[in-house]
Amino acid sequence: MTCEKLLSPVQIGTLTAPNRVFMAPLTRQRAGQPGNIPTVLNAHHYAQRASAGLIITEASQVMPEGQGYAWTPGIHSDEQQAGWKLVVDAVHGAGGRIALQLWHVGRISHALLQPGGQPPVAPSAIAAKAQCFVVQSDGTPAMVATETPRALEIGELPSIVAAYRAAARRAVNAGFDLVEIHAANGYLLNQFLATNSNQRTDAYGGSLENRARFPLEVVDAIVEEIGADRVGIRLSPFGIFNDISEAPADAEAMAFHLMDALQARSLAYVHIAEPDWVGGPQLSDAFRRGLRQRFQGVLIFAGGYTAKKAEALIAAGIADAIAFGRSFIANPDLPRRFALGAELNPLDQTTLYGGGEKGYTDYPALP
Ligand code: PHB
Repeated sequence: MTCEKLLSPVQIGTLTAPNRVFMAPLTRQRAGQPGNIPTVLNAHHYAQRASAGLIITEASQVMPEGQGYAWTPGIHSDEQQAGWKLVVDAVHGAGGRIALQLWHVGRISHALLQPGGQPPVAPSAIAAKAQCFVVQSDGTPAMVATETPRALEIGELPSIVAAYRAAARRAVNAGFDLVEIHAANGYLLNQFLATNSNQRTDAYGGSLENRARFPLEVVDAIVEEIGADRVGIRLSPFGIFNDISEAPADAEAMAFHLMDALQARSLAYVHIAEPDWVGGPQLSDAFRRGLRQRFQGVLIFAGGYTAKKAEALIAAGIADAIAFGRSFIANPDLPRRFALGAELNPLDQTTLYGGGEKGYTDYPALP
């Protein structure tokens, strides 16, 4: 099998990616403590993977309230911005390109992670049947059930938009080529989009237009701050992760509405996290084509892809690029392995979250 399409260049905004093998955003919980600050270890990990067409970093909270797992990096302090600059400089020094993923977890959190031990915030005061990761008061880390959130007041929303905007500015100041707005996988922006997590009766709930309003306000603020050609977004239509549950007709209508809105804003890219990575349904090619028809920017898909499936989706004119997660963790030289048809290193599941170099910077490249 050849990977001719997968290994050809693609233009994203003003950036030229030398191939379409992108690195997916991956939570690894190895930020420096205290302060959730990226370190030289993180810089080394990403620089090892600089041959990706584009690296999309692990999700990074835009404000302290946006954190749902211990030891994830942030992008709201000067120290975090300086830590990210180490990462960006290392990736650029190794010839790569890198986007920062901007995150607010909303209700996927716990008082132990929140400033002042407050409950987490969300569109509505509805608990998710989901888990988050905390360090307990006795110092031991644990997965725990997420807490019932407090519903955001309408007057609080502008301050969250402002946090996203400031985070995007910090990303550009740290040298990132692009930012990716995380509106997928059941986190805050997805909680506004989905019918089961958003039961608001104001201008941010109810109709499809109202549920899309807050995520699009975030998009507009970031576009105004750094320019549409530096902005991408991640969506997970039909996703079930973190207790998102919607009628299929609602999921499809929202996805198409968003694609039209993002096309109107000339976003650099849209990144679709397919639901089957956590046991959700497979997307149909008809649905993928519906997305493609509505959006002329770069369209990325991710979720358990093989090189063969990736090449086919690009050859069919549906995808422009494919993001690889687990295979990029275990194979720092993934594009080269695809080019050579080489075997892939297996993934060690036990070193995914937390820890140090083991399972992070010690996966071998081909000689
Ligand atoms: C996770 O930390 O489990 C996680 C983070 C971001 C995602 C999905 C999963 O989009």
